[in-house]
Amino acid sequence: MCGIVGYVGSDKAGDFLLSGLRRLEYRGYDSAGVAIHGGESFHITRAVGRIDALAGSLGQNPVDGPIGIGHTRWATHGPATVENAHPHVGGDGEVILVHNGVIENFQTLKNELVEKGYVFLSATDSEVVAHLIAEGLRVTPETPADPSQRCVQAVQWAIAQLRGTYGLVIAFREHPDMLIAARFGSPLVIGIGNGEYFVASDSSPLAGCTDRIVYMADHQLALLRREGFSVMHREQGKVNVQIQPLEAAEEAVSLQGYDHYMLKEIYEQPESLKNAMRGRLDEENATAVFGGLNLTPQQLRSVERIILTGCGTSWHSALVGEYLIEELARIPVSVEYASELRYRNPPIENNTLVFGITQSGETADTLAALRETKRKGHRTLALCNVVGSSIAQAADGGVYLHAGPEIGVASTKAYTSQCCVLAMLALYFGRIRHLSFEAGQNIIRDLQRAPGAVQEALNCNEHVKAVAEKYKDATNILYLGRQYNFPTALEGALKLKEISYVHAEGYPAAEMKHGPIALVDEQTPSVFIIPQGTTYDKVMANMEEVKARGGPIIAVASKDDPHINAVADDVIHIPDVPSIIQPIVSVVPLQLLSYHIALLRGCDVDKPRNLAKSVTVE
Ligand code: F6R
Repeated sequence: MCGIVGYVGSDKAGDFLLSGLRRLEYRGYDSAGVAIHGGESFHITRAVGRIDALAGSLGQNPVDGPIGIGHTRWATHGPATVENAHPHVGGDGEVILVHNGVIENFQTLKNELVEKGYVFLSATDSEVVAHLIAEGLRVTPETPADPSQRCVQAVQWAIAQLRGTYGLVIAFREHPDMLIAARFGSPLVIGIGNGEYFVASDSSPLAGCTDRIVYMADHQLALLRREGFSVMHREQGKVNVQIQPLEAAEEAVSLQGYDHYMLKEIYEQPESLKNAMRGRLDEENATAVFGGLNLTPQQLRSVERIILTGCGTSWHSALVGEYLIEELARIPVSVEYASELRYRNPPIENNTLVFGITQSGETADTLAALRETKRKGHRTLALCNVVGSSIAQAADGGVYLHAGPEIGVASTKAYTSQCCVLAMLALYFGRIRHLSFEAGQNIIRDLQRAPGAVQEALNCNEHVKAVAEKYKDATNILYLGRQYNFPTALEGALKLKEISYVHAEGYPAAEMKHGPIALVDEQTPSVFIIPQGTTYDKVMANMEEVKARGGPIIAVASKDDPHINAVADDVIHIPDVPSIIQPIVSVVPLQLLSYHIALLRGCDVDKPRNLAKSVTVE
């Protein structure tokens, strides 16, 4: 949560800072600010609201120079006000910084700093860090041979006292030619240009600026100057970092003609699914192959239990994974909310493999749950979209989704890619156990149908728009499905809640009569996910029960279903596909339904209220 950027070079910093913040806006969007050196001093501009508001303020008081830092905020400590917006200033103005993360011991540090005479202008935990670094400068002797070393030491002195997480980019009034970036628990990426350096919370602002990047690791601190950069580690001293190619192209982070990122990402799913499978389906051996699991086939063969953990939508894909792995590989699976797993102390047997499932790779609870299980000696793997993210770095190995940047706050293509990768893992685990060659071949064939089936499902968009028009004023909607489509019901309900602010609940269809059926009335529509399959008749019976009580019914059904029109008020057709890829296909109309309902209700689809894309706080 919160996005930070920095620039040092010879170009105008303001251009990169604003465009970078726009690309990071999904990380938080209640206020924003920049500090840019305008020749004589750093000028700070801050505004409440979106980056557009900041750009407006900058337009009125233009300032530009070759070094600057910027921030877009998701409030944790203190409401969204100009005073609480970053950058924050430390001491008498000698330190200016932007911060992403949470400082847990900020109150203790603040009390000490107030005692020393520091004056606080905001309610944030971040301002504490700014004053603490200023204090660090005071207690650190001058280093005439290399004055920047004093700044480095002051930052090291200050961050050694912090408890919590931080990604920091710091500018110094006396040294307007350098920035210091420091990371613990909140991501930072350095972009290497020609005579210029960029720093950002993730790589998306760097696309189009450079194709060479460095993912900073925890406890690293980077000194960036137009002439060069160096990275130090708290314990290891100077480190030789690995410069990596930046894969994200500029198109991947722009709207490309779509009205919203969410819609673009829904439409990208045929391609993102192909990318998830590329090079991973081994038809000759009827299995899946993964490069980064970092475990031998023997170790994987000896796995006796799998825990899948994650939050929100990623937790829903874990449920799909549970069904798939148990069905195809016969390995017992448990699905855990990461936020519960991290503090619960469940008995975990030896030979248990723990998968953290996450789009961003930054979710605080998922990271903590993985660290906790790893600390107890279990092997941890990440199933993650963002390359180089904290969870990708913290796990023993993992599988990348290769879905490309997901910018809309509501997860869409990452979810279907997670389901797809979990299906491939189920195939892999099945094939090193009991699953026959022929069964493996059939599963590969099923998976290969997924991109085309999703493409076909997308044809329902116009019809879904009409359905959305009809139900847009509902205040409660039930989502019901069974087996592989129970997680789809949960996911459909979550998508609707988060972007249209309409209350929705997902349930296993048969559970409805144990309580939720009391909600059914003429104003409460139910969305049934009812493709062909073993539970079709049972779900049909559940649907009749709702109809008998006057509840309007929207059905997501296979395209040749001869019976559905007689029962449902509105039918959205999807292609008839094998059960293991049903969750990937049946969620598509539900993504579109929430998108259109949100639009019709005038909601900000890509940046729903109160939410942010990566949840780096508990
Ligand atoms: C919902 C959504 C969230 C995330 C959750 C976990 O559309 O996006 O529920 O799924 O915050 O995020 P990741 O997957 O980044 O760990």
